[in-house]
Amino acid sequence: MADLSIQYLGMNLKNPVIIGSSGLTGSVAEVKLAAASGASALVLKSIFEEQILHEMNNFMKDTGKAKGDSFQKGYQSVLEDREYDYEEAYSYLKDHAKEQTLSKYLSFVEQAKKAVDVPIIASINCSTAYDWTYFARRIEEAGADALELNVFVLPSNTMKNSAENEKVYYDIIEAVLKHLHIPVALKIGFYFSGLATSVIDLSKSGIAGLVLFNRPFHPDIDINTLEVNSKYLLSDPSEYSHVLRWIALLSGRVECPLIATTGVHSAESAIKLLLAGATAVEVVSALYKDGFGVIGKMTQGINDWMDKKGFATIDDFRGKMNQQNLKNPAEFERVQFMRLYSKIV
Ligand SMILES: Cc1cc2nc3c(=O)[nH]c(=O)nc-3n(C[C@H](O)[C@H](O)[C@H](O)COP(=O)(O)O)c2cc1C
Repeated sequence: MADLSIQYLGMNLKNPVIIGSSGLTGSVAEVKLAAASGASALVLKSIFEEQILHEMNNFMKDTGKAKGDSFQKGYQSVLEDREYDYEEAYSYLKDHAKEQTLSKYLSFVEQAKKAVDVPIIASINCSTAYDWTYFARRIEEAGADALELNVFVLPSNTMKNSAENEKVYYDIIEAVLKHLHIPVALKIGFYFSGLATSVIDLSKSGIAGLVLFNRPFHPDIDINTLEVNSKYLLSDPSEYSHVLRWIALLSGRVECPLIATTGVHSAESAIKLLLAGATAVEVVSALYKDGFGVIGKMTQGINDWMDKKGFATIDDFRGKMNQQNLKNPAEFERVQFMRLYSKIV
């Protein structure tokens, strides 16, 4: 029996398979089921910045305190430009509305922590470093073992350059770390102008882990109704390969653990990501498709493969296939299919 344990976020985790943030960890009942699956840690469903703002908006409307459309305008500007322009007179209402949402999340964290003995990683989904950062401290007080920040900046604003877009990551990290003692991981997407240098720089910012990569909402168009929708809510098992490239290129160059997310559906893809240098994997879509039993199959599969290969611990093979350890370091940088194409045509 191999030793599957790993060190992550200051904790000794029993194996490298973590359940990622989603509706599957959105209630205490689900958290209990998730914990029973054998996963080594659970990332709770995120509290969303938009969710807080939305509740604030409704609260203002319900109390009839909004002045005409002025609050609506402010609310929209937060959603569109991420700039707060609320009128000072409403600050009390704003804070009160926030507390209601936040206290619900805090009580969820507290109950989840009490309900299971698997480490609990709370999660905040954000894209600004505004008021909410003070709240992170209260998540710690509610008992979370760690916090995962899901920061996704789509660089679509044509008025902002890449430096302005990417500054927000550092603003958020700085603001949150100021309030916390528990370790903080950062989950990011891949829309950076210089992905490799950005990941390396972020790894030096004081965070305790980088989760690569968040899988964003995939928009689609219904050609019958002419509406925008999303057909691809869940990942496909082939999607791990994109993450594999970047983990292989960056592990050994970063100053914090890399965690792989997106497309991890089997022990095989988990093993590949560990070989590329990931410390652990986060799994979501496979659980939606095939249930929590997937976790046991993954850990068993990793164990069986380690036994077969003669690896006693994860560290015996983690990163063995990253770019720095390859005979031909260009393998993971190849982006064109020259040779393959020439065989096909
Ligand atoms: C239904 C659903 C809900 C999700 N909710 C969250 C969330 O609240 N916070 C978050 O950081 N990621 C969320 N995610 C993203 C997942 O944590 C994960 O990063 C992504 O689905 C890629 O992993 P996968 O291929 O294993 O699904 C969600 C994904 C799905 C499918």
